[in-house]
Amino acid sequence: MQAAVHVCLVAVVFVGGVFASHLLDLSSQRWTLSSSALNISVRGSVPSHVQLDLFKAQVIGDPYYGLNDHNLRWVAWNDWNYTATIHGLTFLLFNGLDTFANISFCGQHVAYTDNQFRQYFFNVTDIFLSCEDAAIPELRILFPSAPATAIAIANEPDQEVWPPRVQIGFEFSNRHFIRKEQSDFGWDWGPAFAPTGIWQKAWVVQLETDQEIHVRNTLLDIYREGQLNNLLPDQTKDWVLNVSVDAVGTIPIGSGMTYTILDTETNQTASSGILGNVTNAGDVITGTTILDGSAYKLWWPHNLGKQSLYNITIEIVSASNKTLASVTKRTGFRTIVLYMGVVTDEELAQGIAPGNHWHFQVNGHPFYAKGSNFIPPDAFWPRVTPSRLRQLFSAVVSGNQNMLRVWASGAYSPDFMYDLADEMGILLWSEFEFGDALYPIAPSFLENCRLEANYQVRRVNHHPSLAVWAGGNELENLELYLVNYTAPDQYERFRGEYETLFLNTLLPAVFGNSRSITYMPSSTNNGYSSINFSRPIPVEERYYNLEPGSIYGNTDYYNYKTAVAFNISSYPSGRFSNEFGFHSMPSVASWRNVLSEDDMHFNSSTIMLRNHHPPPGGLNTSNFYNSSIGMREMTIAVEQYYPIPNKTDHIANFSSWILATQIFQADFYKSQIQFYRVGSGLPSRQLGCLYWQLEDIWQAPTWAGIEYEGRWKVLHNIAREMYQPVIVAPLWNVTSGLLDMYVVSDLWAEVKGTVTLAWVDWNGDILQDISAIGDGNATAATTLQFSVGGLNSSLLTTLNISSLFPTPVGLLDNSTTTTAGKNSASNALFVASLTATGTPVNTNATRTYTHTNFWTPTPLGQAALVDPGLRVSYDSLADVFLVTAQIGVSMWTWLSAGLDDDVVVNFEENGFLLLRGEVKRVKYHVLSGVAEGWKARVTVGSIWDNTLSE
Ligand SMILES: *[C@@H]1O[C@H](CO)[C@@H](O)[C@H](O)[C@H]1NC(C)=O
Ligand SMILES: *[C@@H]1O[C@H](CO)[C@@H](O)[C@H](O)[C@H]1NC(C)=O
Ligand SMILES: *[C@@H]1O[C@H](CO)[C@@H](O)[C@H](O)[C@H]1NC(C)=O
Ligand SMILES: *[C@@H]1O[C@H](CO)[C@@H](O)[C@H](O)[C@H]1NC(C)=O
Ligand SMILES: *[C@@H]1O[C@H](CO)[C@@H](O)[C@H](O)[C@H]1NC(C)=O
Repeated sequence: MQAAVHVCLVAVVFVGGVFASHLLDLSSQRWTLSSSALNISVRGSVPSHVQLDLFKAQVIGDPYYGLNDHNLRWVAWNDWNYTATIHGLTFLLFNGLDTFANISFCGQHVAYTDNQFRQYFFNVTDIFLSCEDAAIPELRILFPSAPATAIAIANEPDQEVWPPRVQIGFEFSNRHFIRKEQSDFGWDWGPAFAPTGIWQKAWVVQLETDQEIHVRNTLLDIYREGQLNNLLPDQTKDWVLNVSVDAVGTIPIGSGMTYTILDTETNQTASSGILGNVTNAGDVITGTTILDGSAYKLWWPHNLGKQSLYNITIEIVSASNKTLASVTKRTGFRTIVLYMGVVTDEELAQGIAPGNHWHFQVNGHPFYAKGSNFIPPDAFWPRVTPSRLRQLFSAVVSGNQNMLRVWASGAYSPDFMYDLADEMGILLWSEFEFGDALYPIAPSFLENCRLEANYQVRRVNHHPSLAVWAGGNELENLELYLVNYTAPDQYERFRGEYETLFLNTLLPAVFGNSRSITYMPSSTNNGYSSINFSRPIPVEERYYNLEPGSIYGNTDYYNYKTAVAFNISSYPSGRFSNEFGFHSMPSVASWRNVLSEDDMHFNSSTIMLRNHHPPPGGLNTSNFYNSSIGMREMTIAVEQYYPIPNKTDHIANFSSWILATQIFQADFYKSQIQFYRVGSGLPSRQLGCLYWQLEDIWQAPTWAGIEYEGRWKVLHNIAREMYQPVIVAPLWNVTSGLLDMYVVSDLWAEVKGTVTLAWVDWNGDILQDISAIGDGNATAATTLQFSVGGLNSSLLTTLNISSLFPTPVGLLDNSTTTTAGKNSASNALFVASLTATGTPVNTNATRTYTHTNFWTPTPLGQAALVDPGLRVSYDSLADVFLVTAQIGVSMWTWLSAGLDDDVVVNFEENGFLLLRGEVKRVKYHVLSGVAEGWKARVTVGSIWDNTLSE
């Protein structure tokens, strides 16, 4: 009773625009979250998740703390009600309900929904009118437990079953039966909360007359005349603008559409007019026009040109010329194709290996895709804010990355994420949310997926940052492989089912809505064997029908046998690398937020249980994580390659071990990034490198380069270095004993310059006695000239390491016997310093590029390192930190804020080599925290003192 009285006092405010529809934002309403079974009733919010609301109400602790990933499972196993009192006329509109939702209004059933990724709207006029006399027009959304519902679906009679060990499972099983973020049920880098709630915005849409409509989704497709998906368009053609608007309400017969295109740089109208060829299906209206092919500034990814953006305003106009609705989308003019065409005779003659291409072209230009894989930045999307993503994307841009692969088992990216990517020039390789499983093909499941894909494709197509659509993660290379491995006799059947969903259902959702974007069914694949638009499904996959000697497709490579980590012959040679990696520990500062003091040591039980690698399932028969394997892999890697931390203070020791795991991770990725980038000039014509993974979802040992709080691990700094346009790269061939020195450039025009090569000892003195650089004629420090063509690599020189150090150096097999003495392998560091002049892409001004790289003939754990005499100071005038090595060479020089400072600060350069006497000026970015005087407490260390007692 009290509640009813209270509700009557709450004013219901509908926000009306110049147009007829009125909106009530449901986040402004007072919501209650309750469970009758648990006798819990707290304040709820929209958008939100149950765990966030329970945490805010202090019913539960921080979900990320300690073992709450395990301890809070009861939240996911329970059902929850979200209720609010609303005056609902005419429609309820939900941009996202996670996941199963029983919606009732005024005590009457409205709908049951079962897809987190669809938009839903319901006409509740009749219900509202019939409940007007009742005291409380209550909207109630009951969210049954997602894990429990998944089990119920799995147990339905005649439910599909798959061969054993094909469905990769984590904490909660049966994720493949439900359309919910797949990593909500656990993943090897994340927790399992299976959250539920009204996770996206929701509204009451009030339409007062039959003429009124509300725009709920808008498709803009901009392509070159004659363009077909997956194929290279003719860049000289005019643009086609195709518009399709989804409405709530009925679009009156005879309605038309106008467009106005505004240049957001000048605020000038670029063009306007009436869309032609209008078709009106009542709930969707489409129209099209031709736009001058050279009248619009092109949108380019970061570092390849400007991010020119245009606002396109579409008005829906009635037959009597009344504006019924207006919608503005910010967009850009560009073509982007993931090109998988056959390597031509001309290209064969240039030395490109036969087979098919697999690379991106923007506005008709191939470019090198440099980046990483993006996972959900939080287990609870409602707390992912635009400012958090802007911070993350700033790290991407600052890290010289131009592409993120938005991994396929999280959630479709919010509009604000694409908006940021449009502004910052980050291409988003986007995927439908399916991965590491085979999926049902029951008609109702397929229809659910079709509607999901259709909505998402239409929602995001206007963003110039959209790079490609993939059907899902690791399907052809892993799932079909697993079927063939565990049940070869059923391979044909399951491949057919795979095609039913990923070719016959999802492909038409893309090709039916857009001509401008490429679709491929699996993130990792060997491309198509044919494409023909006279077939209903134009794409036929190649799978593993490969010609020996030919190269196809992209690669996905993980190898936890760290003994071969630096053996380049263990790396895959494909056209593009879309995944590779190794895990490392996050910093002490990250751990402090989620661990008790007792757990602050390397193999504490909480850390072990937060290490979800390797996952259960797959080829493993175990159903539990064997966390000790993951911890052991990191430990072994450190022991194989670096001085072993052994400090007396337990926090200092913990910190040193953490840093050592991060250094191995960075070192391993660096070796691979170099290899893949050199591939741009090799027969593989390799044109992309996206490592796994950009960022963390929580604080745990993972593959991330950026920790949950935004701190950069060593990896992010090293990737930033290796993704510079022009680099010098040593490739060490274990078998031949040869070290090939390459220069790589992803600029589009020729680059010229010099590389100075030298052998130095750990004191930083040049080793005069090792003279066999190149063909053996050069002196110890030698300068070579080079030129490298656009988007290419060239071999600078080759060093015969076996003849320089006849004693086995054992870098890779750990069978090291180093000789003592000044010129022994353990005392030698090879340094290559590049200076070059080139022209940044799409600019006229030349620029100087520099890069210094190194290689050691023994692992650093075997090297005769000396105290480099590091010093750091803060230069307040220049606002930079100055770092020097006064006595010797400093390897993996690492700046960090004090262990007890809560400041989150990233140093633009970190983990670097410092030669004796060299002064490095390091810029920094503070993300959060205001520890007074933190600058004075910044410390610098290196691999040398990472082992020492303080
Ligand atoms: C949700 O509300 C309905 C209607 O009052 C009730 O029958 C059901 O038990 C509630 N469920 C939970 C989990 O509270
Ligand atoms: C919504 O439902 C009411 C009552 O059934 C009906 O009169 C009205 O036409 C519906 N609105 C639309 C746009 O379908
Ligand atoms: C472009 O449209 C967006 C909304 O989509 C708006 O926020 C922005 O102010 C517009 N820019 C200009 C220059 O009108
Ligand atoms: C363009 O309009 C936006 C608001 O729509 C305004 O913020 C911006 O300053 C304007 N820019 C120019 C160049 O006039
Ligand atoms: C409109 O449709 C006609 C007939 O299909 C076609 O020839 C014409 O190119 C279309 N106009 C536009 C602007 O697409």
